[in-house]
Amino acid sequence: MALGAACAQAAESASGPELHIDLGRVKARLNPGFYGLMTEEINFGYEGGLYGELIRNRSFKAEAGFAYQAEEPVYWRTLGAAEIELDKKLKLNDALDLSLALTIRSASAAQPAGIVNPGFWGIGLRPDTDYRVSFYARTEGADPGPLTLALAKAGGATVVAAQVEGVGREWRKFELTLRTGRELVASKDNVFTLTAARPGKLWLQQVSVFGPTYKNRPNGLRPDLMELMAALKPKFLRFPGGNYVEGDTFGQRFDWKKTIGDPAQRPGHRSPWNYWSTDGMGMLEFLLWCKDLGMEPLLNMFAGYALNGERLSTPEDLAPYVQEALDQIEYVIGDTRTKWGALRARDGHPEPFAMRYVEIGNEDFFDKSGSYDKRFAIFFKAIRTKYPQLQLISTMKTEDTPSQRPDLVDDHTYAWGEAMMYERLNDYDKHPRSDPKVFIGEWATHQGWPMPGMKAAIADAAYLASLERNADVVMMAAYAPLLANLSQVTGHSRERSLQWATNLIGYDALRSYGTPSYYVQKLFSETLGDVVLESTGSAIPQWTTSDNKSFPALHWVVTRKDTAGQPGRIHIKFASRAATDQPVRVRLNGLGTLPRTGTLTVLSSADPDAGNSLDEPTRIVPRARTFTGITRDFTLTLPAYSVGVLEFETP
Ligand code: AHR
Repeated sequence: MALGAACAQAAESASGPELHIDLGRVKARLNPGFYGLMTEEINFGYEGGLYGELIRNRSFKAEAGFAYQAEEPVYWRTLGAAEIELDKKLKLNDALDLSLALTIRSASAAQPAGIVNPGFWGIGLRPDTDYRVSFYARTEGADPGPLTLALAKAGGATVVAAQVEGVGREWRKFELTLRTGRELVASKDNVFTLTAARPGKLWLQQVSVFGPTYKNRPNGLRPDLMELMAALKPKFLRFPGGNYVEGDTFGQRFDWKKTIGDPAQRPGHRSPWNYWSTDGMGMLEFLLWCKDLGMEPLLNMFAGYALNGERLSTPEDLAPYVQEALDQIEYVIGDTRTKWGALRARDGHPEPFAMRYVEIGNEDFFDKSGSYDKRFAIFFKAIRTKYPQLQLISTMKTEDTPSQRPDLVDDHTYAWGEAMMYERLNDYDKHPRSDPKVFIGEWATHQGWPMPGMKAAIADAAYLASLERNADVVMMAAYAPLLANLSQVTGHSRERSLQWATNLIGYDALRSYGTPSYYVQKLFSETLGDVVLESTGSAIPQWTTSDNKSFPALHWVVTRKDTAGQPGRIHIKFASRAATDQPVRVRLNGLGTLPRTGTLTVLSSADPDAGNSLDEPTRIVPRARTFTGITRDFTLTLPAYSVGVLEFETP
């Protein structure tokens, strides 16, 4: 159907699909905080992604070899007659406990020598833009003379450069700003260089370059990604994991106390997704991310289990980790008279953050020892005693935590293929209403590679309709993963920027885009409403998989936004998996007069296997049109392979 001609037809056929909607009968109230984000360090989501640092391996601690201990300065190379090695004796401090020793054998103004960093698959540069460079340097002998810091084309031509002088025998921090020219064409094929024009030896640490950050925050976040997320109007952020909260070992968990304060005092650690995190993106940065996007933090805490199976389950053994969790909560919500609230103030944020939910662990069903019941009960009791106002979320089914009933349960729904998602659409219709409420902390339909295509988006929308329909049980939902650096999606796992296909937002060092699944999130979040209305369907068409499974092809949910307690805006949200346009007879009951016109917003694709990409970022985006002809009995034609919302005001 051409949307430009979006217009209701008189409803005639009694044999086609029908929706019966009662505009006055409320089925359930929706939690205003229904939609949020879930995040972790995966797919270079922070490093080389949201975190604004442009230098890869700025602290030289990144992995080398399977031991994931820095043995050589990876992601750095030399320029001219220079040599580099890691120096584990000459350290900046106990956190950054090694340095890069740079020996310049020969150099001149005409032939400088030094080091090069390629960024995270390039460094995105834009015209007329400031880039803030900082680094620590020292020498042991003579002053190596002026150092030149430059952003340059990958081929060598300088884009912008400046010099600093005064490297001495003590560590000193140097800071300067490089501003690109107006004529520069934006590109990601750039590198950073640090060079000298005469022979010598110096030691370097925390070599950093930041471009613009969202709201100009120091140590801040990438603006285009923040804007994409802001458009989703998320109400909470589940962080810092996923697997990232647990780590492969206890030593590699998200050890939050090592992620606060001066970034040059954060040791960093290995992510379970096999690459180094500087922890520049630490506790406060997560909280500021929440603040800047109007989200409530939903803290996902380490609960005494690591992915390699390490676990502790007696109160004595768990005591330090329980304390770590209590301290973490205090850092978020404690006032400045508390120890950790005062540290948050030291870090620049005296006001406590508002937080209502805390999750104990992550996917603890992977702990086959069955220790979660005990671990959950121990953490629950300690947190409940100190913070009775918090809602505590378990990561296993209620029957798996008999010692302690959780306030909510985090269910994860990954569907490996669209059909699997269609099999999950009644999960919460069947959910016992006396069980704890549900938080869907991670979910996604995997259909399309490496990012979800239109079929995935339709299944996602059908799933969200099923969640909203069960808003008396389902309190919150967050798609996962959120972010993916798509610079290198194939090749050896250690080289790739992508560890997990199917994510909401894709990007490289310069560009970013939302997938069709992103636009489904946006549509559903924008039209959440306050209540779900009663609706039924009849003669719903089916679609059939290649292995002959049949599912209803049309899914929907109807919500209403109320104004000052009075019925207001109606949202009829639909997901059509049908391969042809579907005229649907819509019959409206309840409430008085209806407007003739509304707004119809549709996301659709003639090719259901298509998606968006870095090269075609807006191939599939929602398009809104005026829809004329709303009556108590009208026909709405849903385009083939579409997701959409018809909205209208009730008087
Ligand atoms: O979202 C990717 C991973 O899926 C998460 O880290 C983990 O919680 C889940 O298994």
